[in-house]
Amino acid sequence: MKIYLDTANIKEIREAHSWGILDGVTTNPSLVSKEGRDFIEALKEICAVVAPGPVSAEVVSVTTDEMIREGRDLAKVAKNVVVKIPFIREGLRAIRTLSSEGIRINTTLIFSAPQALLAAKAGASYVSPFLGRLDDIGHVGMDLVRQIRSIFDNYDFKCEILAASIRNPLHVIDAATIGADIATMPFSVLESLLKHPLTDLGLKKFLADWEKLPQNSRKA
Ligand code: G3P
Repeated sequence: MKIYLDTANIKEIREAHSWGILDGVTTNPSLVSKEGRDFIEALKEICAVVAPGPVSAEVVSVTTDEMIREGRDLAKVAKNVVVKIPFIREGLRAIRTLSSEGIRINTTLIFSAPQALLAAKAGASYVSPFLGRLDDIGHVGMDLVRQIRSIFDNYDFKCEILAASIRNPLHVIDAATIGADIATMPFSVLESLLKHPLTDLGLKKFLADWEKLPQNSRKA
């Protein structure tokens, strides 16, 4: 499973990238707004760090023609830009048009399996089911990922499942178990995947025991 960061924060992206496990980045208008910077400047910087990994940048228009125009502009920013289009009626034709021009599309705000099916049929490269937001309203978000996995496998859709709105390590484990192609997560969740108290305790004990060796026998 590929791991993406869900952030527009360049410090977090640089840090995760330095660990050597970052496959891509997703942003959205809320995350970009939190950074308070010029969007295109920020996008260029993120794309340069993550290249050749994909970076999703979302349109903020809601008419088909405007989404197409905005999508084309975003795609010009860098080769690794993936245009994020919300799953609304007006977005479907924009997905079809942009994908037929070779622009990769991540369809966002997916909350049902039929939405994912239609996005894949329209030519999207990625669908983003929002697990956490479904959990928030009492649905089991992970059931949606399972359904989409079965549907895409049944028909051999090339569209990748990008598990989004991930809130905790359990979401990551479940997404990987089900076979989501990608999980995108906040930096705090990615960092929590590194940690285990038994690892820290174990290392402390190893190092303490090592210190008991006579100095002259400690060389490799
Ligand atoms: O970027 C899309 C998605 O991951 C947003 O997550 O936590 O705002 O529901 P969240």
